[in-house]
Amino acid sequence: MDQNDLTTEIRNKVDIVDIIGERIPLTAKGRNFFGVCPFHDDTNPSMSVSRDKQIYKCFSCGASGNVYTFLMNYEHKEFKEVLRDLGKRVGIHVSGVKVNKATTKYDSLYEAYRFAVKYYQNNLVSSYGKEAKEYLHYRGFSDAIIKEFQIGLSLLERQDLTTLLTTKQYDLTTLNQIGLSIDDRDTYVDRIMFPLQDSYGRVVGFSGRIYKDIEQSKYINTKETVIFKKGDCLYHYHAAIDAARISKSIIVMEGFMDVIRAFTIGLKNTVALMGTALTTEQLRLIKRLSRNVVLCLDGDEAGRHAALKIGQTLLDEGIESKVITLPNDDDPDSYILKNGKEKFLELIENAIFYSDYKIASLKENINFDSEEDLSSYINRVILETTKIDDEIRVEIILKKLAKDYNIGYNTLEKRFRDMKENSKPAPKIDVEKKVVKRRNKYILAMEQVIFHMLNHPWVIDLVEQEKMIFPSNETRLLTNEIIYFYRKNRSITIADFYTYLQDKTDLLSYLEKIVSTNILEDVTKEDLLAYFKVIKDYSKSQEIKRLERLMKKESDCLEQAKIVEQIRKLKLGEI
Ligand code: UTP
Ligand code: MN
Repeated sequence: MDQNDLTTEIRNKVDIVDIIGERIPLTAKGRNFFGVCPFHDDTNPSMSVSRDKQIYKCFSCGASGNVYTFLMNYEHKEFKEVLRDLGKRVGIHVSGVKVNKATTKYDSLYEAYRFAVKYYQNNLVSSYGKEAKEYLHYRGFSDAIIKEFQIGLSLLERQDLTTLLTTKQYDLTTLNQIGLSIDDRDTYVDRIMFPLQDSYGRVVGFSGRIYKDIEQSKYINTKETVIFKKGDCLYHYHAAIDAARISKSIIVMEGFMDVIRAFTIGLKNTVALMGTALTTEQLRLIKRLSRNVVLCLDGDEAGRHAALKIGQTLLDEGIESKVITLPNDDDPDSYILKNGKEKFLELIENAIFYSDYKIASLKENINFDSEEDLSSYINRVILETTKIDDEIRVEIILKKLAKDYNIGYNTLEKRFRDMKENSKPAPKIDVEKKVVKRRNKYILAMEQVIFHMLNHPWVIDLVEQEKMIFPSNETRLLTNEIIYFYRKNRSITIADFYTYLQDKTDLLSYLEKIVSTNILEDVTKEDLLAYFKVIKDYSKSQEIKRLERLMKKESDCLEQAKIVEQIRKLKLGEI
């Protein structure tokens, strides 16, 4: 039996309601079951489990999937382990199973990384590793910590790892593609190696740090590969899951050295962005860990700026984070080294709300002797308070403002109410509103079409009949996968489709989003044709825009006329 059949068979023999119900309490409501989602910090039953479809979805954090993805995420296991466990439960023996192509391909890449980790670890404990080890000890990292974070060392010899891996049947093309080699040489030379893991805890890349006094960039990171998407990575995410659940909070830092240092003082619910930017995927991962987010970035200008930006992004997602400010020349690592555990824990304890942090930052560069500056400052503070979801805090801030600047509380309160009223119908300019609306409508239409393709085979046929071409890359890829899956299996089941997509993480998170957005299942052909029209109109308007841009650049009159004709035809719907 090939793995696809086996996966389906095992899945059909277990009931997702039982499996999830054994781990979190579920209550029946109508045809579905509801429980508190274990993938983010919550107390409301926002996760629904469907017996009919054998899937779960969380309306709050957007997690969704089948019985396999649930167990992989809940028990932090790899797919094969979960398959084996469930197989055992229903009396199907799994080991020795031929693994399908996609999985084999990636599995061997993960294997190469596992091998590289061990190889680098060995180097560090060998006699070559003396100086590197001294460096790590000098920085205050014990052997236990070195082991915990699987820290290793790449050697001065430039071909050792590449040679070892080629004798293990890896070809150079693959090794180059996954970033371990450059041509026939090792990518990393004489650097302390920090393994980077994906959200399942698999090592998918490295960051290599210099440890001698040399003029080279401090860190070299693995390039983007099929298994390593830098923007999808949060350092220490997988290992922080349990600690975040227990402490009901997550601490976000910039560098992985900071995370390792925090670990040495017992703080395990920390992750690192590995830079100062927060990507959409990182945001999703953080939300899954906890909604109590503490931003603990570097004390320098860049770190303070990042705290403002990231805090705002979180606020837009309905999460009011807390912020810690470190002295200008410190990062969490150096602060802990200088001041010790207790002082750092105190800082965390005293972290301030993001909105208070933002308000404090507004004071910078204000000349309080100037009436104009002062009034603009006060207006901006009030604007910030309109974003706070807690009336008591709002009152405290306004009262303080009244006292500090000797302004009537009622005046401030009235301004607050006006601003709050005005901030409701958000967009100021009409044009802007239209653009947003149209874009949303077309994105929504694409999501509806995909959702219905997954639920009704006739929708897949209709998409093909109508020769739908989707203007976004992601959508095109996902619909192609659905069509391929349907053709191959002559049926479509969302629960199995999750497993089929499991290595395509980008598409999987897009799928999760679509499924977890609650859309009614019933749909008519007319509804679909209406969605198609929205999508086609959008494509058409994009094409017209493209032609118009082309025309501006075109100097040849004849060519210009051709383009005009094409635009005319498009507008009239002739093509
Ligand atoms: P930092 O420069 O703050 O590193 O960069 P750090 O944590 O203080 O490291 P040490 O203490 O000097 O050893 C923060 C993060 O930005 C990324 C790394 O992921 C790092 O953890 N970075 C930094 C790079 O990728 N390349 C660089 O050259 C520098
Ligand atoms: Mn540092």
